[in-house]
Amino acid sequence: MMRVGREPQGTEMECERIWLIGFMGTGKSRIARPLAAALDWQALDIDTMVEELAQDSVRGIFASGGEGAFRAVEAQALARAAAVRHAVIATGGGSVLGEENRARMRDNGFVVLLEATPETIVRRLMQSDAHISERPLLTGDDPVRRIIELKRQRETAYAMLADITVETDELTPDQITHQILTAFRERTAPAASTT
Ligand code: S3P
Repeated sequence: MMRVGREPQGTEMECERIWLIGFMGTGKSRIARPLAAALDWQALDIDTMVEELAQDSVRGIFASGGEGAFRAVEAQALARAAAVRHAVIATGGGSVLGEENRARMRDNGFVVLLEATPETIVRRLMQSDAHISERPLLTGDDPVRRIIELKRQRETAYAMLADITVETDELTPDQITHQILTAFRERTAPAASTT
């Protein structure tokens, strides 16, 4: 299922970027690659850019400098991504927390929120390379409760930023990619065919 969010902005006619936002485990990195390939654009991943900038893993940055240190590098990575043309960018689940980050995404592209229920998120994170137990913000006795809490804290920021929302629970990656492409082309037809 897909919902349409904020009104089209003037700049979206020249849209050169798609931002994928949403909680951990909603499929942002998984979808960025086929979506970018379909547009003949490049796929970027904010967590990967953070690791390159910091020369350390996400876990390592959290362990040595805490969440604040991670958010500072994340903001730098996002600023870099906002300058890349023709890119699909998988953000980190908490990238929407910074006002500056939100403004960068809002002003520089089409924003897609990937949604999933906490149950789906847990299932996906159990199967992910970055297993749920290795995620700095989900450590503790009750990761499901933590997911519900964090999602609740962030839901307004996610929803306000999104041009469209895709409920991913029942969809395959191909179906999600197709839905995003259709909505993107409808909203930004003149620029979508330009590489
Ligand atoms: C985070 C999500 C992670 C990563 C970091 C913090 C968050 O990215 O950026 O662990 O605050 O939700 P993914 O959403 O790509 O897993």
